[in-house]
Amino acid sequence: MKSPATPNAHGAAIEGVPSIASARVRLSGEQTVKPAIAVIGLGRMGSALARAFLAAGFATHVWNRSPDKAAVLADQGASVAQSVSAAAAAAEITIVCVSTYADSDRLLRSPEVAAALRGKLIVQLSSGSPNQAREQAQWAAGNGTAYLDGAIMATPNFIGEPGGTILYSGPQALFEANRPVLVALGGNPQFVGEDVGHASALDLALLGQMWGALFGQLQAAAICRAEGIALDLFEGHRQAFLPVVEGALVDLVTRIRDKRFAGDATTLASIDVHYGAFSLLLQLCSERGLNDLVPRAQDSLFRKAIAAGQRQDDFAAIAQFMR
Ligand SMILES: NC(=O)c1ccc[n+]([C@@H]2O[C@H](COP(=O)([O-])OP(=O)(O)OC[C@H]3O[C@@H](n4cnc5c(N)ncnc54)[C@H](OP(=O)(O)O)[C@@H]3O)[C@@H](O)[C@H]2O)c1
Repeated sequence: MKSPATPNAHGAAIEGVPSIASARVRLSGEQTVKPAIAVIGLGRMGSALARAFLAAGFATHVWNRSPDKAAVLADQGASVAQSVSAAAAAAEITIVCVSTYADSDRLLRSPEVAAALRGKLIVQLSSGSPNQAREQAQWAAGNGTAYLDGAIMATPNFIGEPGGTILYSGPQALFEANRPVLVALGGNPQFVGEDVGHASALDLALLGQMWGALFGQLQAAAICRAEGIALDLFEGHRQAFLPVVEGALVDLVTRIRDKRFAGDATTLASIDVHYGAFSLLLQLCSERGLNDLVPRAQDSLFRKAIAAGQRQDDFAAIAQFMR
């Protein structure tokens, strides 16, 4: 008999791919039966995921390349599988959390594991690029396996906690059907789109913003050290300055969204004003012999906008040079 169609990574039905109805039926309405879970990869994050499933009362089968990490979880109630295929065969939903998608591919794409996953659901929580997620979803669809891609916006201590946020992309119906399972990993599972690459894309967008702040902090600490300013003093002023920075960020996002690049009455500071102060940062780096690799990269973006005649425009105009 032909299997019912199941949604593909973009939400369209794929003929011949088995339905994930079993997991959906079990989880809808009164949750009397919880699907068995496999967790593949028990590093810091994978172990936290497995612990959260155990705490929520799911039968949890675990596998890790180095067996010692699985043994620790066995003490907490997990069933230790001897192979990835044994873990996947014992479960309805396989959660993968290894270092990279390449590691995941090596683990999942053997004939035994692929067969064990057929007709079931993979939730990929390893970090990857949007295109890697799309490629994995395509492989899963070809294997008759439903697929959700996730990006964990938290450290392991947030997993299973109310504020633990994980972004998911893929078929929305699949996400909604499995929400009761995903909630076990944190109270804040967020669906971010049917394009299966969007969880990873949003992850990288948010992390890119974070690294901007972290590298900025390294620069600030170097300045403080060179000038003999205590970091505790800096920290108090950094926190006081936060509302100004946050306001500028919100303004920047809305201006980029609306393509309002020209300097106008609501412009907070023109490129000219920014660049005047920014040049002093370069000067200080030079005077104190500080590493100026990051400011130099930022300088080249300022210069592109200035060379294009946008000196009096809003800082948001630099967005045009980011593609
Ligand atoms: N930690 C975080 O705060 C955090 C936050 C968000 C997302 N993530 C993502 O979660 C994933 C795991 O992170 P983690 O912190 O758990 O890292 P981790 O502690 O370094 O653990 C890495 C895991 O991947 C496994 N692994 C690596 N290469 C493998 C291979 N070739 N074959 C089989 N297993 C392999 C390791 O197995 P062994 O134990 O045998 O080495 C281990 O289970 C990463 O993609 C990371 O970006 C982590």
